[in-house]
Amino acid sequence: MNKPYPPLYYSDYLQLDRLLDAQDRKSVAYGQPAHDEMLFIIVHQAYELWFKQILFEVDSVIAMLSHDPVEEKHIGVCVARLQRVTEIQKVLIDQLRVLETMTPLDFLDFRDFLFPASGFQSIQFRMLEIRLGLQSDTRLRYNQAAYHSRVSQEHRDALIAAEQEPTMFAALENWLERTPFLETGDYRFWEEYRAAVQRMLDGERDVIKGNPTLSDEEKQAQLTEQDATAEHFDAIFDADRHRALQEDGTRRLGHRATLAALFISLYRDEPILALPYRLVEMLVDIDELMTTWRYRHALMVHRMIGTKIGTGGSSGYHYLKSTAESHRIFRDLTNLSTFLIPRHTLPSLPGEVRRRLGFTHSAKGQ
Ligand code: HEM
Repeated sequence: MNKPYPPLYYSDYLQLDRLLDAQDRKSVAYGQPAHDEMLFIIVHQAYELWFKQILFEVDSVIAMLSHDPVEEKHIGVCVARLQRVTEIQKVLIDQLRVLETMTPLDFLDFRDFLFPASGFQSIQFRMLEIRLGLQSDTRLRYNQAAYHSRVSQEHRDALIAAEQEPTMFAALENWLERTPFLETGDYRFWEEYRAAVQRMLDGERDVIKGNPTLSDEEKQAQLTEQDATAEHFDAIFDADRHRALQEDGTRRLGHRATLAALFISLYRDEPILALPYRLVEMLVDIDELMTTWRYRHALMVHRMIGTKIGTGGSSGYHYLKSTAESHRIFRDLTNLSTFLIPRHTLPSLPGEVRRRLGFTHSAKGQ
């Protein structure tokens, strides 16, 4: 039987002629061949290929999550694809070690040829930040210039257009806001939870007051600490206070979405919440791995160029180190751990909610 498709040749399929002909060493062009420039180019190209794959996965997840309602079987697909992203990120972090086989002196053999090009101009990296939900007004500015001031007009237009597109952060927030089960019939998750938190905090206050090893001053100091913890919890139950924290930039995720994420985290052992919990966890992982990459890249830069300015004109190491903390996107999800209480103090769910969250099926006729 004839196959319906023409035979394929490996090199043609992967367009290797084009791919393997794309390493032009500037040092060769300028008549001062630098051996390590080949590694420098290939490592950067490998990054860009992986960025392409990550964007492909991330875009597909945003599309699935933006559906209202999200198709149930798609949650598992989203989790699997985000997990793939995290595995690629681990490779990206490790890959810096390959580049570090080039010494700072080797780098100086060709660094001068690179000005003013810089990873700062990686459009795919910027796209990834934008797609995940990094907002341009929260970006660190260097030399008072917008992050896209160093790229071509064509690339700037593409980045500005991308800022108008749906992001992972927004898709997640909308999806969380639609989480059912937070209130059904007489049940209000946050009322039950608030009472449990109150019981837990009262119990802790009693322990402090009854501790014979503490002096009165020490007790007072610990009770003041307790008041601060109680304040912290209060803010999560009060929509207005939450909004005030959003306005001053302390929180980004909306109130309802935060409560839903908390509910999912607390009741993750209920079968129906297991996958939603994994989804939230994956985004925490992606954020953490982005941050790890930023730190790791900053350390490598420190080692390669010390505290010199970068080829793109930034303060180099210091600028990069600061982005690691300030460019986090899903910080609110990571912060949820602040509000977790021990499993044994969790209010039990009403029977109806429990039944709807479970996978229990009775055999026919029973
Ligand atoms: C010898 C190796 C490297 C050095 C010395 C270096 C140096 C720098 C410096 C100094 C900056 C800050 C902008 C500037 O002033 O230029 C920067 C930014 C950046 N680099 Fe590298 N880099 C190296 C390798 C890489 C690799 C392999 C990648 C992978 C794609 C990469 C991606 C980036 C990205 C995405 C930024 C922008 C980060 C941000 O603005 O948050 N760099 N790099």
